[in-house]
Amino acid sequence: VKEAKEMVVKVNLELAARDTVRAVKRKGIIVVIDVLRCTSSILNAFANGAREVIPAKTLNEAYQMQKQHSDYLLAGERGGLRPRGFDLGNSPLEFTEPNVCGRTLIFTTTGGTQTLIRAKSASWVLVGAFLNARSVGLKALNMAHAKMLDVSLVPSCRKERFSLEDFICAGAVVDKFPLEDIELSDAAIASLLAFTQAKGKLFETVMLSEHARHLVQLGFRTDVEFSCQLDLFNIVPIYRNGVIKLE
Ligand code: MLT
Repeated sequence: VKEAKEMVVKVNLELAARDTVRAVKRKGIIVVIDVLRCTSSILNAFANGAREVIPAKTLNEAYQMQKQHSDYLLAGERGGLRPRGFDLGNSPLEFTEPNVCGRTLIFTTTGGTQTLIRAKSASWVLVGAFLNARSVGLKALNMAHAKMLDVSLVPSCRKERFSLEDFICAGAVVDKFPLEDIELSDAAIASLLAFTQAKGKLFETVMLSEHARHLVQLGFRTDVEFSCQLDLFNIVPIYRNGVIKLE
């Protein structure tokens, strides 16, 4: 019985990106989620053969990095739009095979890459979204068992506020966990309940969110549609030593 108890993995969910620091302090496995659109873009980039993604905190840092590595692509957004001189914006649909296959991307976004960078001192940072919810969940759980660590799900909210789509996505990640193996925090249970309610109408539910409505105003409705596809990919990018890669 004792052995079984020791195998139980605690699963926490932070409700705002600024709480990343709490997740880092737990020294466990962190799953960063930014459904709209940062982590969905990163996932589509890897699905289309990108070699690696390097998150940059500021535009300036991104420009400087690209000066030193002229073969790297600049990608990301400010205010939802592609910054001056960038090769790609932050629409997941821009990360096509012809655009990204074999390439290293320098990536900077308003919220998502900032959350990744805040999490980077954790030993393991995994990239999650609806697109890989099942795979990222199982990977996090396997790693947690193997290394006897907790799992923390960290949303990357817009303007530091609670984010509906990332909360529901956390529920999609937790949904595949065998309940006897884990101990969910109240926030994680709430996300599971929200996902259970939303899963038959994911796109419609995500469209209610503040960020989806903002993206629609900017003309990015198809990005929301794309990002709401559940388990389209079985890849799990990992952020280590400043670089995101597939294993
Ligand atoms: C972000 O990282 O802040 C988001 O991906 C914003 C966006 O939708 O472009």
